[in-house]
Amino acid sequence: MSSEMPPGNLTETKMTGVGNSMKSDTDKIEEEAKELALEKMENIETMSKRQRKKLMKQKQWEEQRDLRKQKRKEKRLKRKLERRSQLESNTEESIRKRKCREVAPSKLRLIIDCSFDSLMELKDVKKLHKQIQRCYAENRKALHPVQFYLTSHGGQLKDNMNETDKGWVNWKDIHIKSEHYSELIEKEDLVYLTSDSPDLLNELDDSKAYVIGGLVDHNHHKGITYKRAQEQGIRHAQLPLGIFVKMNSRKVLAVNHVFEIILAYLEKRDWEEAFFTVLPQRKGVISLNETMDKSVPVLQDSKIVQDEASDSD
Ligand SMILES: C[S@@+](CC[C@H](N)C(=O)[O-])C[C@H]1O[C@@H](n2cnc3c(N)ncnc32)[C@H](O)[C@@H]1O
Repeated sequence: MSSEMPPGNLTETKMTGVGNSMKSDTDKIEEEAKELALEKMENIETMSKRQRKKLMKQKQWEEQRDLRKQKRKEKRLKRKLERRSQLESNTEESIRKRKCREVAPSKLRLIIDCSFDSLMELKDVKKLHKQIQRCYAENRKALHPVQFYLTSHGGQLKDNMNETDKGWVNWKDIHIKSEHYSELIEKEDLVYLTSDSPDLLNELDDSKAYVIGGLVDHNHHKGITYKRAQEQGIRHAQLPLGIFVKMNSRKVLAVNHVFEIILAYLEKRDWEEAFFTVLPQRKGVISLNETMDKSVPVLQDSKIVQDEASDSD
């Protein structure tokens, strides 16, 4: 029974006393109940034992009314204080979290080279568009966002962006250029990331501009970015996947995976962690840490199998 409810059939008494006048105010009801109880007290002599017992309970309930009121008040105050302290601790925590995650943009330039547009079917251009959207979102969330470039932007990709994602024109912290990267950046600063390069990327250099081939090709254009880098006489490197992890599938990654690995490395400064954070589990990524001596470079994965059955491809 709730502390608001009188014992026995007092509720009934109250209702009868109040009648249909719909008096909902607790005080009024209680007052009437009290009057009724008093009336009954006057006729106590003529009452049966059961009626008297009921009346005593009623009286007791009346006497404890103030106490109940007080208890309710205390309960409300306690709840209010609890809510306030909860709110304060939440605010403190979010400020602390933000302080811990103070964003420090990196000077490193990361370019998606969109000059392969004419080599792709529309369905693959659409996949590339999704990968670019993902890169943009991840960069905006990153602790050390890179200087993000889309170069040679045009053709089917631009048309698709105009059709399906008009908001791209308002994207922030990104340089979307129709020019080729070689027109925008010094040759010496460029490093083409390509899985076919015999060179391994050991460290990231903030003063450099790393290029990712904006291509979804399902292995149809194997080695195309490596060839381009050689023709243009620019540096190239592959991610050091083979040194740190063993994968049961391809070593040719999707554009967004390469982009995200760079972001993760900038945050963690640890390739293995970066690979594990970004690469999907189904690629069967296993650490080579325990099984191999890392001082001996493992280059057997330079020749890799292309398989772009990734989510984002
Ligand atoms: C789907 S791949 C395109 C493969 C294409 N056949 C090629 O020759 O580059 C997309 C891009 O991600 C980058 N990439 C993929 N795997 C890489 C790896 N293991 N190391 C460095 N870059 C990689 C390259 O820039 C590549 O052009």
